[in-house]
Amino acid sequence: GPKKARFVIGMSQCNLGEPWRVQMNADIAAAAKEHPGIEVVFKDAQNDTLKQRAHVEELVAAKVDVLFVSPKEAQPLTEPIGKAFDAGLPVLVLDRAVLGERYTTFIGADNKKIGRAAGEWTKKVLGGKGKVVELKGLMTSTPGQDRSAGFREALAGSEIEIAFEADMKWLEPEARKEMDSALARLPKIDLVYAHNDPGAHGAYLAARAAGREKEMKFVGIDALPHEGVSYVEQGILDATFQYPTGGREAVDTALRILKGESVPKTITLGSRRFTKDDVKKGGERIE
Ligand code: FRU
Repeated sequence: GPKKARFVIGMSQCNLGEPWRVQMNADIAAAAKEHPGIEVVFKDAQNDTLKQRAHVEELVAAKVDVLFVSPKEAQPLTEPIGKAFDAGLPVLVLDRAVLGERYTTFIGADNKKIGRAAGEWTKKVLGGKGKVVELKGLMTSTPGQDRSAGFREALAGSEIEIAFEADMKWLEPEARKEMDSALARLPKIDLVYAHNDPGAHGAYLAARAAGREKEMKFVGIDALPHEGVSYVEQGILDATFQYPTGGREAVDTALRILKGESVPKTITLGSRRFTKDDVKKGGERIE
């Protein structure tokens, strides 16, 4: 029979130990499966930046047709990604950005906008005043920087104080530990803003262990159906903001590149807010 075209996508994932990244890889695999000519080779750097740099170099050396990277940290991944791009390989950077513009396309949601929406919601539910704990994602990654900046922008001028802040590096056990410190230091907390749902859940567990979970609200980001959205349904979180993985969009973009079409430099994905009032009707779109 006729020879099928075969293309290989190399996907460097920074850490498969987190549910959101398991979902991203699953979304990529599902979209690729619809195209028999496409094969995806997955690498998991297990949250190790040096390992991820090596994976990028390995995939380039293996001559994949398109390279996907969801980088752990911006700065250290910039050079290997830029080198691959300069050599003519199409490179899609997913969800966490690198420095500069040496890549083909960036695909991800607008983290500043999500942070701002979390700040606006916080202002509303706290009536414009109170004490907040901010548990940040890894601050050497762009979503951590942007989710913090957007949130603070929305709170500016209000009487809401960020009374405790810490970098929990996107990890639930780290968030739980940092929340223990916040609880020990602050006699009253009105709301915890964590940059992802694992972080918000870790904070909730710490507060519950201290018998204080009813004193405060918990806000997270990701809104996976089986994680954040389910926490809202159970009354564990008060709000979560959807952070789409972009896996399907990445495969679609790769196919366009392989067909010789031109693609945009940035593809920005939308987001939704889920609270107990609207979770049943699928949340509310963020404008
Ligand atoms: C998973 C994760 C998500 C978060 C995203 C930000 O590693 O921490 O929870 O939304 O990365 O890049």
